[in-house]
Amino acid sequence: MPCLFFLLVLLLFTAFQGPTSFRVIQISSFANSTWAHNQGSGWLDDLQIQGWNSDSGTAIFLKPWSKGNISDEEVAELEELFQVYFFLFTQEIQGYASEFQLEYPFQIQGIAGCELHAGGSIVSFLRGALGGLDFLSFENDTCVPAPEGGIRSRIFCALIMQYKIAIYIVKKLLVEICPRYLLSVLYSGKAELQRQVKPEAWLSSGPSPGPGRLLLVCHVSGFYPKPVWVRWMLGEQEQPGIQHSDLLPNADWTWYLRATLDVAAGEAAGLSCRVKHSSLEGQDIILHWGHPISIGFIFLAIIVPSLILLVCLALWYKRRW
Ligand SMILES: *[C@@H]1O[C@H](CO)[C@@H](O)[C@H](O)[C@H]1NC(C)=O
Ligand SMILES: *[C@@H]1O[C@H](CO)[C@@H](O)[C@H](O)[C@H]1NC(C)=O
Ligand SMILES: *[C@@H]1O[C@H](CO)[C@@H](O)[C@H](O)[C@H]1NC(C)=O
Repeated sequence: MPCLFFLLVLLLFTAFQGPTSFRVIQISSFANSTWAHNQGSGWLDDLQIQGWNSDSGTAIFLKPWSKGNISDEEVAELEELFQVYFFLFTQEIQGYASEFQLEYPFQIQGIAGCELHAGGSIVSFLRGALGGLDFLSFENDTCVPAPEGGIRSRIFCALIMQYKIAIYIVKKLLVEICPRYLLSVLYSGKAELQRQVKPEAWLSSGPSPGPGRLLLVCHVSGFYPKPVWVRWMLGEQEQPGIQHSDLLPNADWTWYLRATLDVAAGEAAGLSCRVKHSSLEGQDIILHWGHPISIGFIFLAIIVPSLILLVCLALWYKRRW
């Protein structure tokens, strides 16, 4: 599995630079029959470019280019649409809560957007989850209940399909506006989305996994875009058993990854951590494990002979006198 994943990442890495999808995420929390809160945000892959101020009912553009080529009037129309949507959504869910045996508190998540595929086609999607489990999705304008959602999901889908106008609007947003916006925002944010930032890498040892064993940790941080390749190597040979952490975001839109290897203490010397990233243009970062050993080695190889030489010289001088 990890192998396949990294192969995929490597493929992506050569094919695309930067994000390829836009999605709006809705998180609605229903605390009790009278209290609900909606959160909204807009993302290019995993980079957030928009927020939603639910008090004022307005979008927050987190980047100067987050609007793409959507005009201010269109932004105002969309904001109004979302205000109405959040209001009606909350009302409808609260209205149907007892019929659907939804027990407070519960949370509903929605994700909708569009994605640029290789070849230039753009595919739209919409999925909903209840309490963290898939609940429904939309395919070809049809609500498809998720198996995890059981009968509740099926009834809910049948109900939703009666809201013809809402479905028409959602379809327009997903199939017309989203692709247009995605292309324009990928263009307006190009300088930032397609930038190349070099990683920094450093080594440390983690908590010992057991007696006589070492946990070697290779940290790689501050790189952009996301695809990266980090391995522990012995010469040109990849070491098996590497654990990769999740890719974690830094605040400045760069990423962090850790690759750890559990080895017998005697086998650590000679291992190196190798990092490949598009920003490095083929100049891989290679860090060798074993600084304590090399300091010891320097001591033995340089300082001790120098001391011996000094002592010899001193003795020689003394004898000549
Ligand atoms: C509903 O939940 C909110 C937020 O947790 C709380 O402040 C409020 O008192 C609750 N109302 C009732 C009627 O339980
Ligand atoms: C949606 O439409 C496409 C092409 O028209 C078709 O290939 C696909 O199977 C359809 N999906 C569903 C769930 O009907
Ligand atoms: C916005 O950008 C998209 C994609 O580049 C384009 O198709 C559309 O015509 C543009 N709209 C306006 C109003 O400029």
